[in-house]
Amino acid sequence: MSVQSTIQPVQTATTDFLPLQGTDYVEFYVGNAKQAAHYYISAFGFQPIAYLGPETGHKDRASYVVRQNKLTFVLTTPIRSGNEMADHVYKHGDGVKVLALKVEDATSAWEETTKRGGKSYLAPVKLTDGNGELVMSGIHTYGDVVHLFIERKNYQGPFMPGYRAWSNPYFKTEETGLLYVDHCVGNVSWNQMNPWVAFYQDVMGFRNILSFDDNDISTEYSALMSKVMSNGNGYVKFPINEPAEGKKKSQVEEYLDFYNGEGVQHVAMATNDIVATVHALRSRGVDFLQVPTSYYDDLLDRVGHIDEDLEPLKELGILVDRDDEGYLLQLFTKPVEDRPTLFFEIIQRKGAKSFGKGNFKALFEAIEREQEARGNL
Ligand code: FE2
Repeated sequence: MSVQSTIQPVQTATTDFLPLQGTDYVEFYVGNAKQAAHYYISAFGFQPIAYLGPETGHKDRASYVVRQNKLTFVLTTPIRSGNEMADHVYKHGDGVKVLALKVEDATSAWEETTKRGGKSYLAPVKLTDGNGELVMSGIHTYGDVVHLFIERKNYQGPFMPGYRAWSNPYFKTEETGLLYVDHCVGNVSWNQMNPWVAFYQDVMGFRNILSFDDNDISTEYSALMSKVMSNGNGYVKFPINEPAEGKKKSQVEEYLDFYNGEGVQHVAMATNDIVATVHALRSRGVDFLQVPTSYYDDLLDRVGHIDEDLEPLKELGILVDRDDEGYLLQLFTKPVEDRPTLFFEIIQRKGAKSFGKGNFKALFEAIEREQEARGNL
């Protein structure tokens, strides 16, 4: 298998049995949602939106909704032990539970996917309050992750029925230019990439638009294999990674060990000005992977002309890669919890539709230095 150099054409809406309007929200199950929400607000520049908890009649949990442009994160914690949420946190630490997708018709989305073999997580349910009605349904995917289908065309409230608006007039943060979810990557177990690729093809009507094998993502380094799945209109992209045998322990294997199973490896968030965004994030204490400054010595020979000045890219450690259609700038945070599991990518696309293959070597060397420091290589 070799890397396909161009993105494959996508389905037309008429043949798409699961038309998706994009990512609706990402929900994290965490050990302490109050503090996690504060981190996304203070460090990443999200704004407080909505809250659900004992005060709103939900005795088992607290959920905080934060938003920046089209990015909506829900931080949920169990407030009692001995339930599915508490077991999830005990098993995985903090991590992604829900990748929610915005749809026109959540009932049809559930029917179309479950009849193709998707395992139901939530049969279509209509939620109502004074702000209208919202329909949601859901299916299981890899690990303990689920996809919820959210139909909110008849809902005008702050987030969903059951939530109340939440703000803190004493605590304001500037946004950092994060715009929307570009892609979400799943780490699956040995030999499980192709079965999950088949799941996204058969159950959700996605297409494989790009593949990397263990020759691309070298055996010298933290080897992995990856296939990128995209929905019909390209709004939703899910690369699926599995570990590969290498001289050293695969970064995916380290994730699987510490997450105690399959799960979301990273969420990529788009910006239109990566220099300003990364500058803001760094100044608020977000830790990023650091490539050696030698990365920049021959950068322009590798990627050709770019609009940005090299100096700020070098100062902030921002990486650049080019494909047939343009270039992209990207940078990866270190894991955002103490387990070496979930992290974030910041990405600015200038024509390129790929995922930064040219940066894998430099990145994986940086990841290996971190693995080594944790004693996991
Ligand atoms: Fe990525």
